[in-house]
Formats: sequence, structure tokens, C-alpha cells
Amino acid sequence: MRTLVTGAAGFIGSNLVDALLAGGVDVLGIDCFAPYYAESVKRANLEPALANPGFEFVDGDLRNARLEPLLEGVSDVYHLAAQPGVRDSWGTGFASYVENNIIATQRLLEACRGTTVRRFVYASSSSVYGSPAREDARESDPPAPHSPYGVTKLAGEHLCDAYSRNWGVPAVSLRYFTVYGPRQRPDMGVHRMIQAAHDGTPFPLYGDGNQVRDFTFVDDIVSATIAAAESHDAPATPLNVAGGSRARLLDVVGLVEEVVGRRVGLERLGAAPGDVGRTGGNTESTRRILGWTPRTQLREGIIRQAAWQTGSARRR
Ligand SMILES: NC(=O)c1ccc[n+]([C@@H]2O[C@H](COP(=O)([O-])OP(=O)(O)OC[C@H]3O[C@@H](n4cnc5c(N)ncnc54)[C@H](O)[C@@H]3O)[C@@H](O)[C@H]2O)c1
Repeated sequence: MRTLVTGAAGFIGSNLVDALLAGGVDVLGIDCFAPYYAESVKRANLEPALANPGFEFVDGDLRNARLEPLLEGVSDVYHLAAQPGVRDSWGTGFASYVENNIIATQRLLEACRGTTVRRFVYASSSSVYGSPAREDARESDPPAPHSPYGVTKLAGEHLCDAYSRNWGVPAVSLRYFTVYGPRQRPDMGVHRMIQAAHDGTPFPLYGDGNQVRDFTFVDDIVSATIAAAESHDAPATPLNVAGGSRARLLDVVGLVEEVVGRRVGLERLGAAPGDVGRTGGNTESTRRILGWTPRTQLREGIIRQAAWQTGSARRR
């Protein structure tokens, strides 16, 4: 039996693949190298896995690939492929979010009907909450996405529920909160802050910098994701995966300056439509059901991401 990981060349997907392989699990990865950021970055993410005989890679697009053959002999499906990012999801950009986040998810769920798949783990997002009414968003709170991206991630959850209830596809949705760490996407905040500190170029700060995010280190995301596949009790209802390292963006800028040892200049921009004032997830259910707990604090995680970014800049 093996495991299928979609979005295997991406930030979180490639970290998940490496962890599964390290645990002795055979992995089939699929990715289409979507042009949202450089293909060379995604190819570099895949390098360690490609050196492992337990890994097979398919360069394919979930929107049109034949998916049934990929599911033969697969026990667990980790569905991470998506068009991420809030800001590009407005205007004509939305079509790509619909195709890659909704249509692709529905095709994959459809292909899972009547197969040997034991667990389907869907990478959802804290963006489904929008601006939560309280600091600690709970899974039972009514979702109210604040961006078209969030709307498509919520649609994916609903599709998982529908396929789970009607066709017994054993789906669980994990709501990831602001993920950071080695291989973080180049459009994301911590990546840009570290780069700004290194290059002396300004960090584009949207809004006043007082936005609070519940930062979650990628290894903690990966361990929750694997636990969700392994747990017998993981429900069809969503679970929050939040790292408990809540911080204001300006405080994270300060931490990056300390870690890198250089100042981060700021280019102050207006608030970006779709951005929310704060995110924060209650993780009681996730801890109880999955026996999971986040282990990496923000400072340590930033040290690890900065070390990775410095190393990958040197290799370029
Ligand atoms: N990074 C975060 O903070 C965060 C937070 C919440 C949720 N998520 C979710 O986690 C998942 C992974 O995010 P990430 O940050 O690693 O993004 P990423 O862009 O680095 O990875 C996604 C990968 O999916 C691939 N992909 C996109 N459309 C595809 C398609 N149609 N067929 C095959 N491959 C396709 C892309 O090429 C990319 O390599 C996404 O579902 C995202 O919505 C991420």
C-alpha cells in the first residue's frame, strides 16, 4: 500500500512527503508546477524525495489527469494541491481558484469513490473563518470567508463532507493556520521579511502591522496531517491546526531582525482587501482526537526558516 500526496512539490506538500518517506511509507506525489511561483523552487523542494526509492512522482494536473490509475493500491490520500494566496483571488484571478481548489478537489473525491482509500485528508485553511467573532475560533463557529480564496477552501470542505456522507469517502478537513518554516512560499510574510533583512529591500507591509496571526511551524502541520490519516477517530467535521504562536506582524518583523541580525525596512501599504485583522484557532478538539500538540515556538521556527533561506540563496 502507498500514499498519494497532491501538491507534492509545494511548501507543505514537500515537507509532508519527506516526513512520510522518513517514516518508511511509500509515496506517490503529483504536482503540475503551477506558475504561482517559480518552478525551480518547487523542483528544489522535490530533490530529497526524488533521491529516495520509496518515492514516485507524476508531473500532472488534477484538473485533467486520469486519476483512477493513480489511486490503485493507495491507502491514504493527502490532498494539498491548491491555488493559494488571498490577494490574487479577486477579479479574473478567481477562475484559477475555482478550477484548482474546487473542480480539482471534486475530481479527486469522485475518483476515490469505491476505492481502497482508508483516509482522505484535505488541507483546508483558517481563511474559512473570515474575521472570527472571538480570538479562539472553534470548528463549530459559523464560517464566513472574507476572501474568494477562503470561499473556495470552504467549498472544498463541503465537497469532502458531501462525498463522505453520500459515498463513504473517509474525508477529514484540517484548517491550517498561517504556516511557516523551511520552503515557505516566497509570497508569504515570514519569507519576505527574512529576504528583506538579507537584501536590504523593503518589506511590503499591508495595513498597520497590528494584524495578529496564529503562526504554525510546518513540522507541526505535517505531524497533525499524518495523525489525521492514522487516527481511527478523525471525524468528517473539520479540525483546527494552529501553532499557538500568536503574534502581531510588527513583532514578527522584530524577531526576524534579531534572528538575522539586520534591520527590516518597511514599505507601508494600505490594508489588502481580503486580509483579516487576526487569526487564532482553538485546538482542543485536535489535541483530544489526534493526540497532537504543536511543539515549535515562533522564535525557534524563524531561526530554522532563516537558516534554510540563507542556505537556498547560497545554492542559487
Ligand atoms: N501555507 C499556508 O499558510 C496555508 C494555510 C492554510 C492552508 N494552506 C493550504 O495548504 C495547501 C498547501 O499550501 P502551500 O502553502 O504548500 O502552497 P504551495 O503553492 O506551495 O503548494 C501547492 C502545490 O499544489 C500544486 N498545484 C496547484 N494546483 C494543482 C493542480 N491542479 N494539479 C496538481 N498540482 C497543483 C502547485 O504547483 C503547488 O506546488 C493548500 O491547499 C493551501 O490552501 C496553506
